[in-house]
Amino acid sequence: MPKLFVANWKSNKSLEEVKQWLNDFHVELKDNQKVVIAPPYPLLSLVADKIKDLPRVFLAVQNLSSFPAGSYTGEVCMRNLEGLGVKYAILGHSERRRYLKESHQDVANKISQALSNGATPIVCVDQDYIEDQARVIEPNLLNQCVVAYEPLAAIGTGENAPADKVAKVSKEIKSVFGNVPVLYGGSVNPENITPYLRVTDGVLVGGASLDAEVFAKLIY
Ligand code: 13P
Repeated sequence: MPKLFVANWKSNKSLEEVKQWLNDFHVELKDNQKVVIAPPYPLLSLVADKIKDLPRVFLAVQNLSSFPAGSYTGEVCMRNLEGLGVKYAILGHSERRRYLKESHQDVANKISQALSNGATPIVCVDQDYIEDQARVIEPNLLNQCVVAYEPLAAIGTGENAPADKVAKVSKEIKSVFGNVPVLYGGSVNPENITPYLRVTDGVLVGGASLDAEVFAKLIY
């Protein structure tokens, strides 16, 4: 399976900072490597335009409406993103579960919206709710997800999880979702990434993706 390197910029970066990042990002991707960039919504089209000719570099959103197009003020659905080339949707990130009170059912609804409109969900889970999350997802959609194991204690703390623990949780995820790609996220940086690439299908990177040169160093 290809290795996925996902940059989750979260709610960071201005227009000028994104232009700078795109100018600074130089990487020769191997055939089995894919980069996914998840900017904030207003900056999607700028990134879309810059990456459209780059092979194996894809665009993601960090969230999606749980509703289809319609009267849902403030929401962004797949229809609104048509033409931008959004291929992935990061869904159920712990920050959204925590600060925006997203439920497992909300995340399941977003997964349905993504998949019925041509985007692959990157579903974020911690170990203690893998099964609870999976239970409310339409069963035929489970194996169409990418799943990211993001232990809460590792996110933004510098306390990255041990690779053997990640390997164990990856097996648990596959036993519940099927043989899906599993990513690890939580304080990944160029110094600690190697063992994660041995036991997963890639990484979901926050802080270390904000600097283009640091993010490029992760990819080898
Ligand atoms: P950090 O890499 O900053 O720990 O963030 C991880 C994360 O939440 C990616 O989605």
